[in-house]
Amino acid sequence: MAQLIINSLLLVLILLFVQLFSSVKAAVYDLTDFGAKSDGETDSSKSFLSAWDAACGSPEPATIHVPAGFFLVGQITFSGPCKSSKITLQIDGTLVAPSYDSLGKVGEWMVFAQVEGVSVHGGTIDGRGSSLWSCKAAGGSCPDGATSLAFKSSKDIMISGLTSINSEMFHIVIDDCQGVTVQGVKITAPGSSPNTDGIHVQGSADVTITGTGIKTGDDCISIGPGTTNIWIEQVTCGPGHGISIGSLGKEYDEEGVENVTVRTAVFTGTQNGLRIKTWGRPSQGFVRGVVFEHATMQNVQNPIIIDQNYCNGHRGCADKSSGVKISEVTYTDIQGSSASQVAMNFDCSASNPCSGIELQDIKLTYENQPAEASCNHADGTTSGFVVPPSCL
Ligand SMILES: *[C@@H]1O[C@H](CO)[C@@H](O)[C@H](O)[C@H]1NC(C)=O
Repeated sequence: MAQLIINSLLLVLILLFVQLFSSVKAAVYDLTDFGAKSDGETDSSKSFLSAWDAACGSPEPATIHVPAGFFLVGQITFSGPCKSSKITLQIDGTLVAPSYDSLGKVGEWMVFAQVEGVSVHGGTIDGRGSSLWSCKAAGGSCPDGATSLAFKSSKDIMISGLTSINSEMFHIVIDDCQGVTVQGVKITAPGSSPNTDGIHVQGSADVTITGTGIKTGDDCISIGPGTTNIWIEQVTCGPGHGISIGSLGKEYDEEGVENVTVRTAVFTGTQNGLRIKTWGRPSQGFVRGVVFEHATMQNVQNPIIIDQNYCNGHRGCADKSSGVKISEVTYTDIQGSSASQVAMNFDCSASNPCSGIELQDIKLTYENQPAEASCNHADGTTSGFVVPPSCL
C-alpha cells in the first residue's frame, strides 16, 4: 500500500516536471527572426504571417514575440485551426497600420479566425485613423474604414494589457466566439472620431471585459445580436456613446441577447450611460436578463435609456414599432449627474412593451436638482430610493 502511494507520488512529480519542462521549452518566434523591421516603414506583414504559420504549426505551446519598436503591418488574417493548443502573441512594441487607402476598403486590419487558445498580451496597435476621419469630415468619397483587431469563430481567447489607439473604425470586434476575456485593455480615439467603437461583441457567449478604459468617438462597448453570458466590470467610458445593448432588431430573423451584467462602470461626459437600443422595425429578437449595477454617471446626456424607436435614415422603420421584446432588466445603485433633464428614459415598443424592469437605489441629478424620468410602454417595479421618482 505504502509502495503504491510512493509510486503515485513519483508519477505526479514526473508529470509536474514534464509539464514544467515543456512550458519552458515552449517555442518562441521573434518577429525580427522572420525579417520584420522595427522602423515603422518596412511592411512586415509577410514576416508576421510566417511567424504565425510557425507558431500555429508548432506541436508545443508557442509564443510570437513582437519586440520594442514600430512594425508596419498591412491587412493580415491569422487563420486556424492550429496544431498548437496555446499561442501567445506577446507585443512589446507597436503595430502600425498602413494608410487607409489600402485598409479602408478591406474593412479589417488584423483578424484571428477559427483559432483556439490564443492570447494577445501587451503592446500597442495604432490604426492611424486620423487621415480617414479628415477625409470623412471633408465629405469626400472615402472608404468606410477598418476594424483594428477582430476575433471570429474562435474559442478561449484572452486579450490583456493591450493598448489600441486611433482605429479607423471599431477598435476590437468579437464575433461568433466562445470564451473571451478582455482584461486591462486601453482604447483611445478622439471624441470627435466617427464610428470608432471601443469593443463590439456579437454572436458570442461567455465574454468577460474587466479593468478596461475606453475613450472613443462612438460606443464604449456595444453588444450585438446573439450575445449571451457577457460580464462587464470596472470599465471606464468617456468620451463616447456609452455602453449599448444594440442596435438590435434591424433584421426580422435575429438572435436575441441574454444574460448581460454590467457592474461598477464609470461614465464621464458620454452621450449615454446604460443604453438598450432597437430599430423600430418588425423583428423576433429579444433582450432578457440584464443586470446594470453600481454605475457612476458624471455629466452623462442619457444615463439610463431604452430607445426602441431608433430609425437611422428611415430604412423601413418609419411609423413601425420594434418587434424586439425587452424583459428582466435590473438597475441597481446607479448614481451621479445627468447632462440633460431626463435622466431615465424608457421609450419602449408599443407592440412589445418592456416588462420586468426593476429599479433600486437610483440617484441621478440634473444641475444639482433631481432629474426627470420618462416612460412609454414600460412596466416594472421599484425598491429602495429612486430619484428621479419612477414613472413605471
Ligand atoms: C450568466 O453569465 C455569467 C457570466 O457572465 C455566468 O457566470 C452565469 O452562469 C450565467 N447565468 C446563466 C443562467 O446562464
